[in-house]
Amino acid sequence: MKDLPTGMLITLIILTLIVLTAVFLLIWALIEPHILEVSTVSMRPAGKEPGFKKQDPQASGRPGLRLFFFSDLHADICLIKPERLIRALKEAHASAPLDAVVFGGDICNNYQVNKKCLSYLQKISDACSELNIPFYGVSGNHDFGFDVSDGKAFFDSIEDKQISFTSHATGRKIVLFGIDDSGRKHRVWYKVPEVPEDCVSVLAVHNPDAILHFEEKDHVDFMLSGHFHAGQIKMPFKLEFLVLRADKLPQSNVIEGVFEHNGTTLFITRGVGCNKLPLRFGAVPEVSVVEIFA
Ligand SMILES: [Fe+2]
Repeated sequence: MKDLPTGMLITLIILTLIVLTAVFLLIWALIEPHILEVSTVSMRPAGKEPGFKKQDPQASGRPGLRLFFFSDLHADICLIKPERLIRALKEAHASAPLDAVVFGGDICNNYQVNKKCLSYLQKISDACSELNIPFYGVSGNHDFGFDVSDGKAFFDSIEDKQISFTSHATGRKIVLFGIDDSGRKHRVWYKVPEVPEDCVSVLAVHNPDAILHFEEKDHVDFMLSGHFHAGQIKMPFKLEFLVLRADKLPQSNVIEGVFEHNGTTLFITRGVGCNKLPLRFGAVPEVSVVEIFA
């Protein structure tokens, strides 16, 4: 080393640092899919302004509805064991009763829903039965070709169904409903089903871009989505979205968290599992206790 010219020594040091950084990032990306964040998400009624605005997370008083929401299981590449998710569910329910568990779609990878993935949902369903909490869900783009409407996915599909609750805070009627996903190949943005005008409406739909296809008459006060995985492997300049995905909202920095837009409050979860590779970076798996203040 002593005899190396200074220029070569500096190059060697820089190359070593680059390799060490790459190894560190790879190790972290392998670790991150094993970490589970249980977030508490407050959603308040949105203003009518167009454009997306991050919603202030502060809320006070009693929520009208309390949901346990998770999405993007991709159970064949999910490093979060169902037992951990169930523990989070039980702890959430013990701290204050949950009204429902809602799944936001994407059961498996590779557009094939198999038994292993379904057994994950079966365990969640069994836990819900044990706790006496209803389990609802919608399909994601990866569930294309698999019919979730007949109970085979162990949740009650809320596509074209309306589940009524009474707000714990105001006594108002709250309607939970859903839209399934057509799959990406032949994308169709299904119409938002009609709900009574005088209720508070909560829509579960896998792809947050659906909000860009709402019509003026659609009544969606709150919306629960996933799909983006928060980029799954975050890169500089949002390259993961620019190169790998055609989704629209990330181009406006609407990627994860709570936003409001034109009368709708939207929550986008980072999801639980991984797409294609068992790696996540800057996008820790998430399940959420969603408190709707209405
Ligand atoms: Fe997904």
